Amino acid sequence: MRIGLTYNLKSDVPVVAGVEDWSAECEERATVELIAGALAHLGHTVIDLPYGRDLALRIAAAQPEIVFNIAEGWFGRNRESLVPAVLELLDVPYSGSDALTLGLALDKYLAKTVVAAAGLPVVASHLVSNPAQLAALSIDFPAFVKPNYEGSSKGIRGASRVNNREELAERVGWVLANYRQPALIEPFLSGREFSIGILGNDPPVALPVLEVVDAQSSVTSEQFVYSFETKSGNLERLLCPAPLEEEEKNRLTEIAVRAHTALGCRDFSRVDIRLDDKGEPFFLEINPLPGLSAQSLLTVQAKAAGLSYDRLIAAILGSACRRLGINVA
Ligand SMILES: Nc1ncnc2c1ncn2[C@@H]1O[C@H](COP(=O)(O)OP(=O)(O)OP(=O)(O)O)[C@@H](O)[C@H]1O
Ligand SMILES: [Mg+2]
Repeated sequence: MRIGLTYNLKSDVPVVAGVEDWSAECEERATVELIAGALAHLGHTVIDLPYGRDLALRIAAAQPEIVFNIAEGWFGRNRESLVPAVLELLDVPYSGSDALTLGLALDKYLAKTVVAAAGLPVVASHLVSNPAQLAALSIDFPAFVKPNYEGSSKGIRGASRVNNREELAERVGWVLANYRQPALIEPFLSGREFSIGILGNDPPVALPVLEVVDAQSSVTSEQFVYSFETKSGNLERLLCPAPLEEEEKNRLTEIAVRAHTALGCRDFSRVDIRLDDKGEPFFLEINPLPGLSAQSLLTVQAKAAGLSYDRLIAAILGSACRRLGINVA
């Protein structure tokens, strides 16, 4: 098949002065080459379609039979929705979730509303777009403050965990000034952290549960935050399959698959869950466009399920083609 590959390179993201993690969500060239290589190994012809304002014209000219989409976009909560919307405008089929699901999942507050309506556990949160709103809020400490629609731990630091009103006001001000979007305030979940990859449709199937812990083992789960500092310093260790009792594993998997379904995700996604101090799990957020680098959590989860990188890409593409009624030639 002639497969278009839509993506965003880190090197193309317009610089945001003073914000060190501005390009964190986008791809290294190596990841794009890895996916293109996997598609080529599967016998397909890959059409290179980097993100940019002329993308619609380039897609229309190239006429791919399907697009393998990992484009994150640049700014705003519609950034991941733009490429799928353009593909629908051009009537070009594509892998992964549609514009509505991608936008909904990026907005963490709205995503949690939908997930809660499906009967799944989420923590109550406050959305603040002006520091003056803080005085009227009743907040228990420690709390956690993050931008409402970023990913790849953009805007998440050790200092996102706040212990009192002063730290809260400082962090909310920092999020508003640097990320130009509402700050989400949640109770700090002090337990273990898990991520569950999901593949396929009818039914979507969970990959082995992954646990993220501090690489040094000196930091307890009460202190651990999978922050930008942790990710950029490679300070985490990934345990997959996570050491869990069967019942705990089933509960986490059930939450992940039901959240994926409630938000209308397709083909693949990754759900982040954290436990509270009593060991109760809470949905944190979902990534319908999870990272696909060699080191990404989904790649590690697929490997634990016995899927090589090429087979992971084949599974995502195969799910999309079956859903769309396209014969993968
Ligand atoms: N309420 C919370 N309590 C404790 N830790 C939290 C909370 N919310 C987020 N975190 C920590 O911050 C990390 C990043 O948060 P979250 O997953 O919401 O952001 P993200 O940038 O969208 O993540 P990703 O890199 O998966 O796209 C989590 O993995 C977790 O370690
Ligand atoms: Mg996350």
